[in-house]
Amino acid sequence: MEIDYNIQFDSKNKLKHFLNIELLSESHINQILDLAEKYEKNEGKKFDDLNGSTIASLFFEPSTRTKTTFELAAKRLSADFINIDIANSSTLKGESIKDMIKTLEAMSCDMFIVRHSVSGTSHYIASEVDKNISVINAGDGSHAHPTQAMLDMFTIRKHKSSFKNLKVSIVGDILHSRVAKSVITSLKILGVSTINIVGPKSLIPNNYADMGVGYIEQLEDGISNVDVIIMLRLQIERMHEALISTDDYFKDYGLTQKKLSNAKSDVIVMHPGPINRGVEIDSDVADGKNSVILDQVSSGISIRMAILSLILNNRK
Ligand code: CP
Repeated sequence: MEIDYNIQFDSKNKLKHFLNIELLSESHINQILDLAEKYEKNEGKKFDDLNGSTIASLFFEPSTRTKTTFELAAKRLSADFINIDIANSSTLKGESIKDMIKTLEAMSCDMFIVRHSVSGTSHYIASEVDKNISVINAGDGSHAHPTQAMLDMFTIRKHKSSFKNLKVSIVGDILHSRVAKSVITSLKILGVSTINIVGPKSLIPNNYADMGVGYIEQLEDGISNVDVIIMLRLQIERMHEALISTDDYFKDYGLTQKKLSNAKSDVIVMHPGPINRGVEIDSDVADGKNSVILDQVSSGISIRMAILSLILNNRK
């Protein structure tokens, strides 16, 4: 489907939905990161910013991190939060997504948080909802995962003094990764000077040059002297055929402590999760001193608090 990126802004050019990164400015991103920093400084505190708002989460695809941190974020902002149990919902009796949304609208929901395996589903829902309702994309197919990208930027900002001169490498299955696409767009908006993607040719999009990144095939070369490494898992659920064996993959692209010595000593190792130990990352690295993987998870709460409160407060 053709995706209209303008749909996420209201008539006053304020963010109404949070669907993708493409049309965000550096100041939009910094506003989100600054607000997340404020919430993180008051970790565990309950705010009443969204008292009276009702948020429904619709996860048509599995999730641990995104689903749980959205729920925690909404509850810390005092919103009423409904977790729709898709596996036991009326979609199993043939109800369409549109009818499901209209049904939830009739229950006075203010916001839908949507994850779906089909790219463009959140945009479709945003184009169908009542004008007073906002939609957040919690990951759609291999297209976009904008809130993950924001929490990744937040994590990088906490560990590195500036975005401008950073050297970042994203390693693995770029072809099927919604995270990689949203992260690359965010890094570019923030002015990161060197972004490379690293992986076997079969997992690299043909149009990588249009994405404004370089390509390095060998892992050791790709992580040489970098500040940030973002590891990705093989997204086998999005592959039509097996593109690589996991044993071969670990030999060539699994990040071990020995290979990590090619990067700077203060490199941070990131991974959006879920991680597959012994496939794309060795346990020594995942649990090692350079890993910020669990910091990313924690950052997800503050970032999602920031996005929920920004979007719902824009309606006032
Ligand atoms: N990073 C991420 O989206 O993880 P979950 O699938 O657990 O939400």
